[in-house]
Amino acid sequence: MKIDNLTLSFWNKKVLDKVTLEIKKQEFVFIIWYSWSWKTSLIRSLIWDFKPENWDIILDDGSYLYKNLNEKTLRQYRKRIWVIFQDYKLLESKTVYENVAFAMEVCNYKDSEIIKKVPEVLEATWLLLKKDRFASELSGWEKQRVSIARALVHNPEIIIWDEPTWNLDPKTALTIMEIFEELNRLWKTIIIATHDKNIVDSYKKRVISFKDKKIFLDEEKWSYHI
Ligand SMILES: Nc1ncnc2c1ncn2[C@@H]1O[C@H](COP(=O)(O)OP(=O)(O)OP(=O)(O)O)[C@@H](O)[C@H]1O
Ligand SMILES: [Mg+2]
Repeated sequence: MKIDNLTLSFWNKKVLDKVTLEIKKQEFVFIIWYSWSWKTSLIRSLIWDFKPENWDIILDDGSYLYKNLNEKTLRQYRKRIWVIFQDYKLLESKTVYENVAFAMEVCNYKDSEIIKKVPEVLEATWLLLKKDRFASELSGWEKQRVSIARALVHNPEIIIWDEPTWNLDPKTALTIMEIFEELNRLWKTIIIATHDKNIVDSYKKRVISFKDKKIFLDEEKWSYHI
């Protein structure tokens, strides 16, 4: 995926100015930026949930996304690039099973596909035993896994994860990172926005950061110790 000429503004104040960025298939990338910078806004703009000015996304097949944007292409695109948000966005009055099934229903999957797929992804995220619990009864770590299960039903090519470890103890944080390393091995591109020094230093992956509206760091195998 190539992000071409991205300019992001709030209240007429530019926060990113003509940023171009290429992320290859099966890359594992950390985007680090201090708290209360524009990480979540940047991610929302990548799925057209927040509209940036004047830019495009060029997909791996060479097609320009926004030049050809309509409701149908946007729906398809959002299944290929899946975002796991910081606040999980679960439906609190639905069960674990229903939360995952609902993610498929709204995308018009057939009932037979839903019945087959939901138990598979619940098993992969160690949630089968909790499938009938309401989302409101789950711990943060369990909610986090439900949101991963919801991502997996669509088999996306790119998973973008906003602050995955903000409410986890360091040991659990590393466990959840293992899930994403495994997904990465299974040909998924993983993009993680974080300010967690611990996980960035443990993984030594490509790190991108911004300053003065531009990219100021883009290094392979980077850590805070360097
Ligand atoms: N739709 C919007 N309109 C105006 N300002 C916004 C909008 N969305 C976010 N902001 C502002 O942009 C700034 C960055 O917010 P954002 O949530 O992107 O930061 P963040 O880096 O994800 O923060 P955190 O590390 O706390 O999650 C904040 O000052 C926020 O109030
Ligand atoms: Mg955020």
